[in-house]
Amino acid sequence: MKAAILNGYDKNWRELEIRDIPVPEPGAGEVLVKILTAGVNPLDNMIIRGEVKMIVPYPLPLVMGNEFCGVIEKLGAGVSDFSVGDRVYGRMPLSKIGAFAEYAAIAQSAIARVPDYLTDEEAACVPLTALTALQALELMKPAAGETIFISGGTGSLGAMAIPIAKSFGLTVITNGSAANRGRVLALGADRFVDYKTEDYAEALSDVDHVLDTLGDRELPKEFSILKRGGRLVSLRGMPNGEFASRAGLPAYKRVLLKLAGARYDRMAAKKNQRYYFVFVHEDGAGLRRVSEIFSARRIEASVDEVFSLDEVNNALKKVASGKSRGKTILRIAE
Ligand SMILES: NC(=O)c1ccc[n+]([C@@H]2O[C@H](COP(=O)([O-])OP(=O)(O)OC[C@H]3O[C@@H](n4cnc5c(N)ncnc54)[C@H](OP(=O)(O)O)[C@@H]3O)[C@@H](O)[C@H]2O)c1
Repeated sequence: MKAAILNGYDKNWRELEIRDIPVPEPGAGEVLVKILTAGVNPLDNMIIRGEVKMIVPYPLPLVMGNEFCGVIEKLGAGVSDFSVGDRVYGRMPLSKIGAFAEYAAIAQSAIARVPDYLTDEEAACVPLTALTALQALELMKPAAGETIFISGGTGSLGAMAIPIAKSFGLTVITNGSAANRGRVLALGADRFVDYKTEDYAEALSDVDHVLDTLGDRELPKEFSILKRGGRLVSLRGMPNGEFASRAGLPAYKRVLLKLAGARYDRMAAKKNQRYYFVFVHEDGAGLRRVSEIFSARRIEASVDEVFSLDEVNNALKKVASGKSRGKTILRIAE
């Protein structure tokens, strides 16, 4: 089968190689999925640049790709939750990614059935970013009626986080560039701030929760609009000691990440706020919840551009540009 493979880390980025490799055999508790579509994420470029080695030290060569929509072709031993022919989607397990390929063997605990109304392209937009939003909201423990600020909500993360935050009964404020205003308001955002003409730090205060997608350069401002005692979850800042413990990382990494994230912990402590970092992990049960939310609210997924597997490097470059109208997708099979 054809697969897109990373042969070496490079802090300046490098191209993936399209190569023929054997179709994997599903092990116990796994299913063999024929991949129809795969989502391309900033995370894929971060893996190539070696930026997440501390959290997930993948041995090379590595079949890349973190999320997919596909059809089950074969069941491994002990699989009872799914049948051959089911259309499923998932965030690939952290310990075994590989969605940029014609087939993947995936733990049944990482997948869920796709809501019927979503196309294959739309379905591949969902798992990674929807689970990220869900895992962030679980840390925030929000109550209906509270307010959340999602920075950079015009991208693929915002396309999931905005409607999911709405399903928790939250008032959602986000920012991005003006061209995306209408699309983001249609996703359910209550207020949109054009980051080129308006400073959200002046416009907002005492927000109950902040979901950060921009990291270091924006975090001080994001803390400044968060209420005293509020929770900020970052997807782009430094991981901290709390994250390392929650992720079950070994002791020496806990020490290193405690030091790395201390700056943000100190920033948070000034107003009795809390700083959390999320690195999205696979979660079939969470994804079933996402499927229910999506089906009940008929949430639409925002597809940006569709590439073939052979064009994977162009897709990665497109994502690296940081300009987004939703998710960049690979169409791998019909
Ligand atoms: N830790 C995790 O588990 C995890 C999971 C998912 C995503 N993430 C991270 O979350 C970030 C967003 O992901 P994504 O998939 O949504 O990326 P994306 O599709 O590339 O979107 C990024 C968005 O950020 C907006 N933006 C850029 N500069 C901005 C600024 N100064 N102020 C406000 N908005 C700005 C852009 O808006 P315009 O195009 O409108 O200018 C764009 O829509 C990435 O850094 C990704 O690595 C992390």
